[in-house]
Amino acid sequence: MYQDLDAYWMPFTANRQFKKAPRLLARADGMYFWTPEGRQVLDGVAGLWCVNAGHARPKIVQAIQQQAAELDYAPPFQMGHPKAFELAERLVKITPPGMNKVFYTNSGSESVETALKMAIAYHRVRGEGQRTRLIGRERGYHGVNFGGISVGGMVANRKMFGTLLAGVDHIRHTHDPARNAYSRGQPAHGAEFADDLERLIALHDASTIAAVIVEPVAGSTGVLIPPQGYLQRLREICDKHGILLIFDEVITGFGRTGQPFAAQTFGVTPDLMTVAKGITNGCVPMGAVFVKQAIHDAFMQGPEHLIEFFHGYTYSAHPLACAAALGTLDTYADDGLLTRASEMQAYFADAVHSLKGLPHVIDVRNIGLVGGIELASRPEEPAKRAFEVFLDCWEHGVLIRTTGDTIALSPPLIIEKSHIDRIVSTVADAIRRVR
Ligand SMILES: Cc1ncc(COP(=O)(O)O)c(C=O)c1O
Repeated sequence: MYQDLDAYWMPFTANRQFKKAPRLLARADGMYFWTPEGRQVLDGVAGLWCVNAGHARPKIVQAIQQQAAELDYAPPFQMGHPKAFELAERLVKITPPGMNKVFYTNSGSESVETALKMAIAYHRVRGEGQRTRLIGRERGYHGVNFGGISVGGMVANRKMFGTLLAGVDHIRHTHDPARNAYSRGQPAHGAEFADDLERLIALHDASTIAAVIVEPVAGSTGVLIPPQGYLQRLREICDKHGILLIFDEVITGFGRTGQPFAAQTFGVTPDLMTVAKGITNGCVPMGAVFVKQAIHDAFMQGPEHLIEFFHGYTYSAHPLACAAALGTLDTYADDGLLTRASEMQAYFADAVHSLKGLPHVIDVRNIGLVGGIELASRPEEPAKRAFEVFLDCWEHGVLIRTTGDTIALSPPLIIEKSHIDRIVSTVADAIRRVR
């Protein structure tokens, strides 16, 4: 086994702690990883919210292998390749009504930057170039690039990086444990938190605001489920003021909440939608922005030989990614995975809510195949208690994820009841052991 861990500066990792006691993954299949020593680890988080169909699915593996041999790369600017078009046609069959244009990226962060730029440019091409402000939400996570951390609302991701993008403001978050702790599914209270957008409109004037971006279900900030009626209210306010609504569906896309997209689960259609992760089952980096026809069409003016949107990446619509995504859509369809979370969610909800009453547990939240278990923080040591639970689960053969003192579960959508039992009982034992 390769042992020298020095040169690799790991992302979002406590590097010194990791290198003293490395956690390496060498192989994966179905619901499991294996370490280099051959220890089996049950995947409770679909890798990183992305391996929705489980690991090493044959149609995806074969698609990537064949594509690498057939067309390894094709330039995406002023050129195309057939699978990029085929994939877009397939994708818009499962998007919410009217979201029928696809712009490819390589990650969730790039999808966010792309959507923010599109929103500002859209207003400009329509003659409303003064609409440049972007509104995010406290506790939001929209990746790590400058636009994304500007509209994002997680302080650790922002405070080290200067003044960020100008002209950004934030509505309040929706977390309200005093009224909503231990809600099953959508909390009953908090639709009125959407009215905070009216406060910012009164401050800045709607005529300066291009777009509002939110995660329908906030994941990285600790699994916050939208209160009943909240997203509808946000949609209404945006419509009233001509503001675009962007849903960041990087973690909720591709079946996580029980429908292909959270927009469908919650019955609210945004104007733009960012996705990544599950689009290729995590196998090849890829993201996309789904856009309403009218937004796309607004750009399609001027001389036809001119580029309409000065934006794109060397690896936009990469052939390997397109092949992987087509194999992924086939696999999702074969196994009915885009709606499987709706079949499993009652069992999953019972399992995660059974953790109520354990020491340190102060809230349990769930939707589809997403669970959040919040632990009380140890005084002076925020995030440490949950991290110790993570390490304990790892040692006992279950991979979970924590953010702050919240445990976030997001297993592959192929999960069976026995896997749910094992994940939740391992978490329960670890919680009982942690001090
Ligand atoms: C809602 C949301 N947006 C954007 C991102 C960033 O995606 P990536 O890490 O692929 O850049 C994430 C990643 O977890 C996410 O959860």
